[in-house]
Amino acid sequence: MNKDIDFIINILLKYKGKIVNILGIETACDDTSAAIVKDGHVILSNIIWDQQKVHEKYCGVVPELAARRHTEVITRVIEKALSQANMSYSDIDAIGVNAMRGLLRSVMVGVAAAKVIAFAQNIPIIGLHHIEGHIYSIILDNPNIEFPFICLTVSGGHNMLVLVQSHGQYELLGMTLDDAAGEAFDKIAKLLDIGFPGGPVIDKLSKEGNPQAFKFPRPMLNKANDDFSFSGLKTSVLTTIKKLKKENKTIPVPDIVASFQEAVVDVLVKKTMRAAIRKGVKTIAIAGGVSANSLLRKRFKQKTKEQNMQIYFPQMILCMDNAAMIASLAYYKLKSGDLSDLNLDACSNAPFGI
Ligand code: KG4
Ligand code: ZN
Repeated sequence: MNKDIDFIINILLKYKGKIVNILGIETACDDTSAAIVKDGHVILSNIIWDQQKVHEKYCGVVPELAARRHTEVITRVIEKALSQANMSYSDIDAIGVNAMRGLLRSVMVGVAAAKVIAFAQNIPIIGLHHIEGHIYSIILDNPNIEFPFICLTVSGGHNMLVLVQSHGQYELLGMTLDDAAGEAFDKIAKLLDIGFPGGPVIDKLSKEGNPQAFKFPRPMLNKANDDFSFSGLKTSVLTTIKKLKKENKTIPVPDIVASFQEAVVDVLVKKTMRAAIRKGVKTIAIAGGVSANSLLRKRFKQKTKEQNMQIYFPQMILCMDNAAMIASLAYYKLKSGDLSDLNLDACSNAPFGI
């Protein structure tokens, strides 16, 4: 980041009181996304080109294929975002791009595209952290959210509990020690051969099952920290399926997925609530792909109501990886002069909040 004081003052003066249109680019995993966001909060376009068709036959994201597909479609996605916003390249004031988290080759495609546009248009470029972007999927729609709040970011690639003290100020409370919750959803769905990605399929199928049918473990629930672990739960489901098969019993798929989902939600809700109470925080936000889960939403609404707390979820389209959240975050970085330059590098797992 360029911290030269004259440079920062110039940026602050340049954008003071001016409408700012930011192009966001997000290519962390298997979604190619570009968005135009005005003044950090008005989404003029948010194009998401998902690669489900490419990866579903493998029941998981194939990194090499993901990067190639990003390379193939990135220009079209950006141009679609511009045309939907009724803009051309010269109307963009700055570019925000996820440069710090995801599959390395996928992240590189977004960063390279952003650098070319920043160079050609001579506009600021801001390299951002994907997890921080997910936090801004909440702030984007709720600019007046009260700080501090606790944000659970939970998806296929990450699972973190973060204390958000103010814009750009974070304390990482805990994270997964192995699989992220979304990854566990995807792996269980693969095990049962019920589709990809597993989260939405299990969410739907669980409605037909009995969540009390199987007593799956609640990993890390009784540990006095804010970390998570879901690989043991996955193993327990696998052992149950193997046992049923060995006994020649039919696999009660809806009961299994409902019981699995119940265990994941139980852990996520209880650990997040516990952290909020311990920190004396009255506002909780949930972000990332798994924040779309209907049981998770229902349970958090119940529990926060009981504790007289506020709960925020992103609108559905902003749960998954998207560039609007990146553009919103870029707006705040721009306003504080926190910029990158054309030497910006791509990184797969930069630290966050520590
Ligand atoms: O945020 P996202 O699009 O990408 C990552 O950063 O990983 O999240 C994708 C993840 C997948 O693991 C998917 O199974 C999960 O979010 N997911 C869900 C639901 N919708 C998506 N998990 C549980 N319930 C859902 N309704
Ligand atoms: Zn994500």
